[in-house]
Amino acid sequence: MKTAESLTTIRFDGESVVYLDQRRLPLHEHLVHARTVDDFVEAIASLGVRGAPAIGIFGAYGVALLAQQASNEERLRQDAARIRAARPTAVNLGWAVDRVLAAPDKLAEARAIHHEQIEVDRRLAHTALELFPRDAAVFTHCNTGPIATGGGGTALGAIIHAAAAGRRLRVFVGETRPLLQGARLTMFELRRAGVEATLVVDSAAAAVMQQKKIDLIIVGADRIARNGDTANKIGTYGLAIAAAHHRIPFYVAAPRSSFDLALADGRAIPIEERSAEEVTASGANVYNPAFDITPGHLITAFVTEYGVLRPPYAESLPELVTCPSITVLMAAAGT
Ligand code: MRU
Repeated sequence: MKTAESLTTIRFDGESVVYLDQRRLPLHEHLVHARTVDDFVEAIASLGVRGAPAIGIFGAYGVALLAQQASNEERLRQDAARIRAARPTAVNLGWAVDRVLAAPDKLAEARAIHHEQIEVDRRLAHTALELFPRDAAVFTHCNTGPIATGGGGTALGAIIHAAAAGRRLRVFVGETRPLLQGARLTMFELRRAGVEATLVVDSAAAAVMQQKKIDLIIVGADRIARNGDTANKIGTYGLAIAAAHHRIPFYVAAPRSSFDLALADGRAIPIEERSAEEVTASGANVYNPAFDITPGHLITAFVTEYGVLRPPYAESLPELVTCPSITVLMAAAGT
C-alpha cells in the first residue's frame, strides 16, 4: 500500500520550493511553487505548509532560494526576518531560518535540515514503540504525520509505525477545530497508511476517554520550555487535563528542534492568535488562539529522537543540549 510518506510535502527544484498545499487536502493533492518572499510568508501564515518541523524545512529552503536572488546580505536578512515572523509559536521556524542564514552553503544547510528530520522521525517512531501496548486504544490531536514534518511524522508517525510493527490499535482522532487538521489531514494520512481510525469531534474527547478505555494519548508540540510546559494545537491542554482525570498516559512526541531550553517555562512562549473569520462569518467577537500551553506536570513523558524523557523535566530536558547532533549519530551509524 502507498504510504503518506511517499507524498511530496516539500521539495527544492532549483528555481522554486514546491509544496503540497495542505489547505486543499484531502480533496486535492495540489502542488504549489513558492518563489518570492511573499509566497513563503503567505504559504506559512495561511497554513499551506503547516506543522512545526515542516514550516522549519520550508522556511529553510525559502531562505536558501532567496539567497540566490538577493542583491545583498541586508536584503536577505530582511526577507528571512519576514519568513521567521510568519508564525510565532513553533520554535522550529526561527531555528531553521537562523541555521541557514548562518551557513556558508545555504542550500546544503536547508537540505541537511530536511534530511535530518527524516532520520529524527525514524528514530522517534522506533523509540515510541515501547509506549504502545500490544492492543491499545490511542487518541491523537491535530496533525503530526509526514505532511507536518517532511519525514515520517512525530506523534502520528509513531502511531503509523506501531501499527506497522503489529500493534493492534484502535486510533481515535480529534477533529481539531477550527481548521480541522485532525479530520482533514490525520484521517487522510492514516487512510493512506492503511491504519483504521475513528474521527471524533473535539468536544467528545473527554467522553471518549471515559467510555472507550483509551490507553494512551500522543500529540506533537510547537515549542517546549525547560520545565516541560508545551505549546501545541489549541485543545491539547484540555485533553491533558481530561487524561489526568482518567489516569491515561499523556505523551508529547517532538524532535529536539522543538525544545526551547532558553525558556524557563511556558509563560514566555508566544501564542499565535488567528482571525475571527476562521471561526465565524457573522462578525461576532472571537478569541481564536491557535495554540495552548499544557503544563509539564500533566505530561507523562516526551518522546524524542534521543529516547523517552521523563520527569523531573528540569533535570531530563536540559540533557538534550549535551546529546550529539543527529548528523554525528547518522555518521556513526553509517547512514
Ligand atoms: O496550526 P498547525 O496546524 O501548524 O499546528 C500544528 C500542531 O499543533 C502540531 O501538533 C505541531 O506543529 C507538531 S507537527 C509534528
